[in-house]
Amino acid sequence: MQLILDRLTKQYGSKIALDRIDAVFQPGIYGLLGANGAGKTTMMRLICDILKPTSGEVILDGRNIRDLGEKYREVLGYLPQDFGYYPNFTATKFLLYMASLKGLNARYAKEKAASLLEVVGLQNERNKKIKTFSGGMKQRLGIAQALLNDPQILILDEPTAGLDPKERVRFRNLISSFAENKIVILSTHIVTDVEYIADEILVLKNGSLIKKGTENSIISEIAGCVWECRVTKQEAARLENTFTVCNSKNEDGMIIVRMVSNCKPCDTAIAVAPCLEDLYLYYFHGEGQ
Ligand SMILES: Nc1ncnc2c1ncn2[C@@H]1O[C@H](COP(=O)(O)OP(=O)(O)OP(=O)(O)O)[C@@H](O)[C@H]1O
Ligand SMILES: [Mg+2]
Repeated sequence: MQLILDRLTKQYGSKIALDRIDAVFQPGIYGLLGANGAGKTTMMRLICDILKPTSGEVILDGRNIRDLGEKYREVLGYLPQDFGYYPNFTATKFLLYMASLKGLNARYAKEKAASLLEVVGLQNERNKKIKTFSGGMKQRLGIAQALLNDPQILILDEPTAGLDPKERVRFRNLISSFAENKIVILSTHIVTDVEYIADEILVLKNGSLIKKGTENSIISEIAGCVWECRVTKQEAARLENTFTVCNSKNEDGMIIVRMVSNCKPCDTAIAVAPCLEDLYLYYFHGEGQ
């Protein structure tokens, strides 16, 4: 299975939200990173055939998804960023309703809904109304509905928004266990969500794909640009005003400052091994989260 984005472009009026994106997806987990407004949702809606590209195409195994139509939807699972829930539905009723919209057989749907509720840890809440759910519980229900048709391609737009740390771990395990032989693309602002599970990372900035590769390969590009030094409080304040500081921590009255910079920020700074969060800050400092 191969999903290709070929010069995929989306313009809203004069605003170019996505600019000639080329990418190839094969079975694996892909993390889509980008600041607010980078174009993540636009890209996902184009991949899900909900939006029509201004130019370019999405191709599955040699065929434009627009020509595949219903056949494509059968292999696709999607969790939208702004998912609408029906507050008075119970979790089970909601899943059965979504299953009927997807055209799934009623008996299959019943079994599948029950097993997915277990998978996402909502089996005890299955008969409770969605309006009583926390944000994380709703998000897990959203993930469950995306899995109803056993999709080969799973698109998750900010699936970890609103999850607490324990739920994040559970989510990562859930995706990893599901992902075998499937294409999973998930967007997030939270670097650690993709750090652990993504085989490849895509970085979107202002509608352009500025990086695509394994974590190690894209991180290595900023080798020599991440620095640490141990300085006084005053010097730390000066560095914070001048450079993009990733972290500062207190140690015996002195401050250990970690920052990204193309040149050596101060005499005592030493270059350290970069991590994905440094890369994110390197590209998105000052652009929202
Ligand atoms: N329907 C629309 N009409 C006009 N402009 C839009 C529309 N949808 C999105 N945009 C613009 O396109 C750009 C990309 O938006 P998009 O929602 O894809 O970003 P995003 O990366 O998903 O952001 P976020 O992290 O906030 O969800 C933004 O500048 C946004 O304002
Ligand atoms: Mg979005």
